[in-house]
Amino acid sequence: MNPEIIKVQKSFGEALAHITTPDDLEKLSIEYLGRKGHLSNLFLSLKNRPDSQKKTFGQELNKVKTMLVQSLDKKRVEITKQSAQQESIDVTIPGTQYPHGSLHLVTYAIEEISRIFQKIGFIRQSYHEVEWEYFAFESLNMPPGHPARDDFETFFVDHAPDKQYGRMVLTPHTSSGQVREMWRLGQPPVRMINIAKTYRPNWDATHVPMFHQFEGLCIDEGINITHLKGTIEYFAKAFFGEKREIRLRPFHFQFTEPSFEVDITCDICDGKGIVNKTKCKVCKSGWLELGGAGMVHPNVLKVGKINPKKYTGWAFGFGIERVFMMKQGLKVDDIRILYSGDIRFLEQF
Ligand code: FA5
Repeated sequence: MNPEIIKVQKSFGEALAHITTPDDLEKLSIEYLGRKGHLSNLFLSLKNRPDSQKKTFGQELNKVKTMLVQSLDKKRVEITKQSAQQESIDVTIPGTQYPHGSLHLVTYAIEEISRIFQKIGFIRQSYHEVEWEYFAFESLNMPPGHPARDDFETFFVDHAPDKQYGRMVLTPHTSSGQVREMWRLGQPPVRMINIAKTYRPNWDATHVPMFHQFEGLCIDEGINITHLKGTIEYFAKAFFGEKREIRLRPFHFQFTEPSFEVDITCDICDGKGIVNKTKCKVCKSGWLELGGAGMVHPNVLKVGKINPKKYTGWAFGFGIERVFMMKQGLKVDDIRILYSGDIRFLEQF
């Protein structure tokens, strides 16, 4: 064999004998078989050799190259076996702690509210977030052009209007689900709790543009205001605890008659209306509005194909973020923090 080839083969063998790690093995492989490696240089030198030597030199080189590759493979298997034997697991070392994610606070509130109403036989619904004008207004006794529509400052969607149902809107309240539920069931009894996203262009300490409402609707024979008041009080005790007070304040909604707004004693100022000698910035009076309520207007029952002479019903619609920020002892004095994405706030719960 050519002495130059013997020299490379020998030095490779000596170096391989000292290799103990996969990294060193890789380096050795590059040193001999890489593009600029010892063996590759000999292959390159082939073209400058006399024609009489070329054939034998090339055959010898190929033979040695095969030997080198086989030796490297063998060594690789040996090293892997050894390191597997050496590796022992200490089961007493504490595992890696990964940070836990969690659901959003509003999702927890939705789950709690659903449970409270499911206990008294209300069926959970989630009616449309993008809705026809008809269900948001007309079906609720607010014909086109009625000024009461302005109270629900509405986002209109750029979509071709429907002949029967009008334009599309981002629903400004969950009351849009009232007639849909009456149509779904056909006849009373109706006991619905509709929880959905709602939209209005507001932004301050008690308003956000995307919020959630939960809408209670109860229709049957002999339903009256005492059932409405009892249900709201049941909810308030379950969600806010025994200490808090609720009041119904006369109000006007086109789709209920009589109508009320429902207030709760404010958690921020403990119902006093004053914090550190200044007016409470959340409620300004000791009471904070949670939502509206009332007896379902006969016109709405008629649209729902329910006979108002035989059946009566009540409805209420509360803001979920508002209800959450009034939870006993939370002291959340700005609703916007719920959607700020501030992890320091969210992690506290
Ligand atoms: C209504 O939306 C009526 N649909 C409620 C109703 C239902 C009345 C059934 C009668 C029968 P109102 O516009 O007052 O009413 O809104 C109800 C509640 O939604 C408010 O009290 C408040 O808690 C919440 N809310 C309204 N706008 C916002 C907002 N931009 N951000 C956060 N919460 C809001």
